[in-house]
Order: sequence, then C-alpha cells, then structure tokens
Amino acid sequence: MDRKVDFLVVGSGIAGLSFALKAAKLGKVLIVTKANEDESNTKYAQGGVAVVTDETDSFEKHIEDTLIAGDGLCDTQVVENVVKEGPARINELIAYGTSFDKEDSGEYDLAREGGHSMHRILHYKDITGYEIERALLDQIHANPNIEILTHYFAVDLITQHHLGIHVDKRSENINCYGIYALNTKSKVVEKILSKVTLMATGGAGHVYSSTTNPTIATGDGIAMVYRAKGKVRNMEFIQFHPTALYNPREYPAFLISEAVRGFGGILRRANGESFMEEYDERGSLAPRDIVARAIDAEMKKSGLDYVYLDITHRSKADILSHFPNIYEKCLSVGLDMTKDFIPVSPAAHYLCGGIMVDEYGATSIKSLYACGECSSTGLHGANRLASNSLLEAAVYAHRIFEDASKIVGSIDYQEDIPSWDDSNTQLSNEDILVTHNLRETQKLMSDYVGIVRSDFRLERAMRRLGLLHEETESFYKNTKLSVKLCELRNVIQVAYLVVKSATQRKESRGLHYTTDYPQHANILEDTIL
Ligand code: FAD
Ligand code: SIN
Repeated sequence: MDRKVDFLVVGSGIAGLSFALKAAKLGKVLIVTKANEDESNTKYAQGGVAVVTDETDSFEKHIEDTLIAGDGLCDTQVVENVVKEGPARINELIAYGTSFDKEDSGEYDLAREGGHSMHRILHYKDITGYEIERALLDQIHANPNIEILTHYFAVDLITQHHLGIHVDKRSENINCYGIYALNTKSKVVEKILSKVTLMATGGAGHVYSSTTNPTIATGDGIAMVYRAKGKVRNMEFIQFHPTALYNPREYPAFLISEAVRGFGGILRRANGESFMEEYDERGSLAPRDIVARAIDAEMKKSGLDYVYLDITHRSKADILSHFPNIYEKCLSVGLDMTKDFIPVSPAAHYLCGGIMVDEYGATSIKSLYACGECSSTGLHGANRLASNSLLEAAVYAHRIFEDASKIVGSIDYQEDIPSWDDSNTQLSNEDILVTHNLRETQKLMSDYVGIVRSDFRLERAMRRLGLLHEETESFYKNTKLSVKLCELRNVIQVAYLVVKSATQRKESRGLHYTTDYPQHANILEDTIL
C-alpha cells in the first residue's frame, strides 16, 4: 500500500516524537519506526538532561563546559542556542507529563556528570529516558493528526534518482520526496510520499562489538542520506562510555551511569588504588574521552578486561533512591553495589558526528531535516558533554518545526515515483552469512577503530571493509529485502564513513586519538564527506 503524508518522521525516540507533536499542529504526521514504538536509545537514557535551572548555575557555565568537552570543534553559536533555548524545551517535556526528581525542599534534585562544573542534570531516578519516552508516547497516542506505523523499516530516501535523473555529490538541488519502507510483517516494500521528511533514526553503536545501545542503533538514517548523496560530518568522533558493566555474556552492554561518578563513584585498579588523578586533575569526573582513554591504558597495563567503579562509601539508602535500576541489574549478576566494586569497561555509546545540518536542522537535501543522534549540528564538537544529547534533540525538534512550517505550504507531492521493484531477486537461504558479516564488521571496528587508533590500523580496517562491502552489495542486489540485510548494509556504510573520516583527520582531538598524530593540528576543521 502506498501512502502520502504532509510530515513523514522516521524514528520514534525523543527527536522524532518531539517533532511529530509540534508538526501535528500544521498537518498530518506519519511516524514509521522499525521496532516497537518505544524501542530507541532514548528509552535507555539513564543520567538525565543537562539544562540550566538553578540560580547558582548560568548559561555561560554550561556553554563553557560544552566547549571544553568538545575540544575546540564545537560551533559556538550552536552551543549558545541549545543551552539558552534548553529551559523552554524542557518545560515543554514537563508539560507533556515528564517527571524529574525533586528534593524535599521542592527544588530539582540536580545530578552531576563528567565535564560539568555544576550539578545541573535533571533526572528521573536512573531511568530518565524511559520516563521521557513514556510521556511523549502518551501525547502521541492522544493526537488525532499523528499515525504511527511500527515494524516499518525505512530502506532508502526517494530522490530524483528514482525518476531516472542523475544525482551526485556535486548536485545542487537534490530533493527528498519520501522514503521506501519495508513493512516487516507483510514483507512488502511500500512507497511513502511526503512534503517534509524528518530523519530521526538515532545512533550507530552496533557498528562496534561492544556497545551500550539497543539493537536498533545501526546508523540507518546516516547511511540512507549518504547513499542519497547528502553530506555527513565528523563521523570519526565515536564516544565510548567509560563505564559499561563488564559482562562478556551480555550484548548490548548495560550502562553504569556517569551519574554514579557524579555521586562520588571512584575508578579503581584491581588492587583498590584510585588512578584517575594520574591522568587528569578532575579525576573520575573528567570528560569522557579522557576517562575512557585512561581506562583503556589501565586495561592494557594490567591485562584485565575491566577496571572497578567503587560507590560503596555512599549509604545504601542513598544508592537505592538514586540508582534503583542499576542496583537491581548489578544484583541480578551477583554484585551488591553497596558493598562490592563494580567491574566496568568502555563501550561504544554515542555518535558525535552524523548527517550535516544547518542551524534549523535542514540537511543538504531539500525537504529533508535530521534531528537527534543521527544529526551533526555542531553542538558536540569532538566530544559530547554528558547529558547534552536529549537536550539537543528537544531544542532542534522545535527549530525544525519552525523552519518546516515556513516551507511545507509550498511543497507538492512528487506523484510519478515508481514502486519498489524486486522482480529479479530471490529469497535468501543463507541468512547466516549476514550474521557472519555483521560480526566481522563489528569486530574489525572494535579491534582497529576503537579508542586508540593509528594509520596502520585504519588501513587494515579499510581493506577488510572493502571486501565485506563487495560481498554484501552483491547479496543485496540479488536477494529479497530483510531487516538484517538492510542493517548490515547500513552498518558497513557507517563503518566506512567512520574509517574514512578518521583517516582524513591528521591529529588527535577529543574522541579521535591516533598514535601517529598525538597532538592537535594548528587548523581547526570539520571532516565533511
Ligand atoms: P533514538 O532514541 O535512538 O530513536 C531512534 C528511532 O529510530 C528508534 O525508534 C528506532 O527504532 C528508529 N529507527 C532507526 N532506524 C530506522 C529505520 N531504518 N526505519 C525506521 N525506524 C528506524 N543522552 C543524554 O542526554 N542523557 C543521558 O542520560 C543518556 N543516557 C544514555 C544511556 C544509554 C544506555 C544510551 C544508549 C544513550 C544515552 N544517551 C543519553 C544518549 C541519548 O539517549 C540518545 O542520543 C538520544 O536518546 C537519541 O534520541 P534520538 O531520538 O535521536 O534516537
Ligand atoms: C549516563 O548516564 O552516563 C549517560 C549520559 C549520557 O550519555 O549523556
């Protein structure tokens, strides 16, 4: 069944849902999402939302902390916009029904995380994302202008290419007319035409073999935009969260929130020594890039696959009231965090780069916006400040709504788009090969494109990716589509973008550290592909 809609939203995390609620004031909105409606990185966010609410805090301090974490590469104007517009957007989340914890005094219970000079993080226990996603979905369900299609997988953007018109990276006017989406229940690829499309497909943690992200995070939106000849930026900046629970039997990895360190948690060696002071004067609360590299160095020295996080000096009552979910999770694997050190290791967590957008979330493709983790706004620079990403998504959803409201009235549907043609393809009887290629990609990315990189390792990664790309493209051309195959293709595409960008950056900055160029370069540059 083919469809037409004013606003098409791909993804149902904070970015997609926030925009949909606003766009519904202007027309009909269709959300397509590839799994259950709440499955998203948003749902698993723990620490909270960084936003200035306290009178002892200031926009200037939040701006400065963001710029320091970003290691010179943030767009200062974007940082100012997001920080200053943040409180209004968070008040909207509260008006939608989101709860944030308060102290007995009625003031917000503000948490602190790495790189923040102040306690400024609004949270709901240690399940802030779950609470935000719940409140947004409640609003979506009550809105008659919004339809949500679950288990629909966006495969590709529709552009002039599908009308037989040549487009390439130099084309000035590439238009987005909608998407092709695989209805995973009927197995039919449907055509969805739209006036305005929002890409809100989230991150790409599953490019790596150890990640805190749920399995939906395969970089689909970024791969789609790049295939459609749109621009992506700063893909080398993969943020590894320093403290995922070490448990080789669990994939994805469970996160131990940075708020635990903000609550006094100390990183320790196996012999109990605290080590972060040897790397940075901010100790266990230094920005993430620094803490993750320090842990990586400690693991290399000790030969162990983890270090320890110690919060045993805080009272059991305090730990239980702030971190009930983490406490329960640790107990389920035999650890009592009120008495035991928690074994932790870094895991791929957040993609700082993504689809390049302007200050209103517009991509280099006309009628296409991008919001949330799949986008690159310029806020995060070379390293995202903790808890700035839920904030960024809320602020940009509003900016995009304001921009889209000016153009949607002048856009018509492109009617003569052909239906999806899979006449020369067959059902696969070798799906296991897709699984093998995915594992191989994830392993090579973890082995060669992790926290510490070098030209030699990046070259190795690129050679191996070339072969995996060739095999997968040939399989894709001859096989009926499946979600697993499309995700593999996207993971390989995103892996290529990460390696290519990392290869181009001849310096170490923020999350990109290479032994061949250990210093900052003199010139500050984004990597644009
Ligand atoms: P997501 O919430 O990931 O939503 C993406 C949506 O797109 C999903 O619905 C997905 O199913 C859908 N989708 C993807 N591909 C397709 C496709 N091909 N077709 C159809 N649908 C598709 N940030 C903070 O600011 N504070 C925190 O405390 C925090 N904690 C975190 C803890 C964890 C464990 C993780 C993983 C992340 C955390 N982050 C945190 C980061 C933050 O949660 C995410 O960056 C943010 O939620 C991303 O929101 P989003 O809407 O862009 O994407
Ligand atoms: C955390 O709770 O440590 C995650 C915060 C974030 O990724 O912003």
